[in-house]
Amino acid sequence: MPILKVARMGHPVLRRVADPVPSNHVGSDEIQRLIGDMIDTCREYSGAGLAAPQVHVSKRVVVMEVYDNPRYPDAPELALTVVVNPEVEHIDPTRQMVWEGCLSVPDLRGQVPRSSAVRLTGLGRDGEPIDVTLDGFPAAVVQHECDHLDGRLYVDRMESMESLTFLGEFDRFVRPRIVEEVNED
Ligand code: NI
Repeated sequence: MPILKVARMGHPVLRRVADPVPSNHVGSDEIQRLIGDMIDTCREYSGAGLAAPQVHVSKRVVVMEVYDNPRYPDAPELALTVVVNPEVEHIDPTRQMVWEGCLSVPDLRGQVPRSSAVRLTGLGRDGEPIDVTLDGFPAAVVQHECDHLDGRLYVDRMESMESLTFLGEFDRFVRPRIVEEVNED
């Protein structure tokens, strides 16, 4: 399957509210091809997730997967999750501060406040109902990807630009601190 071109910050498709996919259209060749290409594209660029607007398709489709990811080596795993027309319910609005990046905002990381736990509902890859509860980093990934469907980027959610950091500097100065903090628990 082809690797799709990823829209970067500034492209208007990233600021549009994406259209829902009619439930009887999830199994169509068009949507199935889109989902397959999005998974391949997400893996190719080591994304934790990808939303259809990021590949220039303004539809409410997201894919997420965190497994042995070189861009997020310390992150807990999240099995491949495909959701069409996702809805997010903030079941634990207690804030966690999460270091996020985005394939549409290349080579940067910033700290974003996110709800600690969410319930994610919607339709799966074959149109089956999805209903899962996620916390920690996977919950943040869900919130990040679903934000894309409403034209929102993680930088919009940052409370301060002070944490905005290039990836090289993140690896050098921030990641050792995070590992230390985790190890102290
Ligand atoms: Ni993103």
